[in-house]
Amino acid sequence: MTIRIKTTDQLKDLPDESELTFGTLFSDHMFNMDYDQEKGWHDPRIEPYGHFALDPSTMVLHYGQSIFEGLKAFKTPSGGINLFRPTENFKRFNRSAHKLCIPEIDEDFALEALVELLKLEKRWVPSAPGTSLYIRPTIIATDPFLGVRASHTYRFFIILCPVGAYYKEGFNPVKIWVTDKYVRAVRGGMGEVKTAGNYAASLYAGEEASRQGYTQVLWLDGVDLKFVEEVGSMNIFFVINNELVTPSLSGSILSGITRDTVIRLAKKWGMPVTERRISIDELIDTYEAGNLQEVFGSGTAAVISPVGEIKYRDKQMLVGNGKVGPWAKKFFDAITDIQYGKAEDFENWVMTVG
Ligand code: COI
Repeated sequence: MTIRIKTTDQLKDLPDESELTFGTLFSDHMFNMDYDQEKGWHDPRIEPYGHFALDPSTMVLHYGQSIFEGLKAFKTPSGGINLFRPTENFKRFNRSAHKLCIPEIDEDFALEALVELLKLEKRWVPSAPGTSLYIRPTIIATDPFLGVRASHTYRFFIILCPVGAYYKEGFNPVKIWVTDKYVRAVRGGMGEVKTAGNYAASLYAGEEASRQGYTQVLWLDGVDLKFVEEVGSMNIFFVINNELVTPSLSGSILSGITRDTVIRLAKKWGMPVTERRISIDELIDTYEAGNLQEVFGSGTAAVISPVGEIKYRDKQMLVGNGKVGPWAKKFFDAITDIQYGKAEDFENWVMTVG
């Protein structure tokens, strides 16, 4: 398939890189491609970034049949552009598609389309420390129809967004609230899928966390409300007696690419790593015994985010005196150095664009 390219003659002004936040500004162009039952995925095109005209009955607006991914492009010291493990994102995109009854895309073609878009938009990859170009591939159900079934038509699009830190705290510890009142996902459900509904389902508890002064919610499993799962925008890691512990992929946890990167790095460094179930009670006992050395989250948007405090019921656990711990810093530096092309890419994680 050939990608049609239509450029805009109204280029936007680039933002002040020192003021970049997350998710507010978008580049000049986007990628679009459509699906219908007759033609399959067709008409791939790069065109000016712009609004969609959607019929008010468009299925995605009512029943949330949509999936997305998140990855980043990084500016290297020599001015090149790096992607980090992009094939993993498109593989997961297709796993999500499968679960949401969305026709799968050709992963190689999707990556090729992204590379084309990035070549056109390279001036949007920021170079200030800690900044990058966030990439959001998305598929939405587009049938104008109110019955509940899988749509017969879809739109796949990719938009680009220059970003700074995801949390306003930057690389400083965030405070998280463990809820035993609300659940994000249940066994056999959609927890491992990057679909809009998971994020919608997290908002109510997120607001309750925020009212109490906490940045994020740490979810427990949806069956027993006992085992730690994930933070919604991040996977979670604990350093216990110099061992790295993270909840195993139960089906209701997102299989994070940064999570996998952390695990692989830890193994390379000879740090013991265990993926297993960890209950909130065990976490409290570990804390009480003085063995909870560090807690941090991992995600594409958040990279590594140290956790300085965990609240569960009326118990407040201050982790590492609320300061950034040495392991969080080591993982953050190692991952970002590879991403920005400043350290050896010993696992072939980086794909250089243009
Ligand atoms: C990411 O880390 O890319 C995510 O998708 C999390 C989030 C911003 C929803």
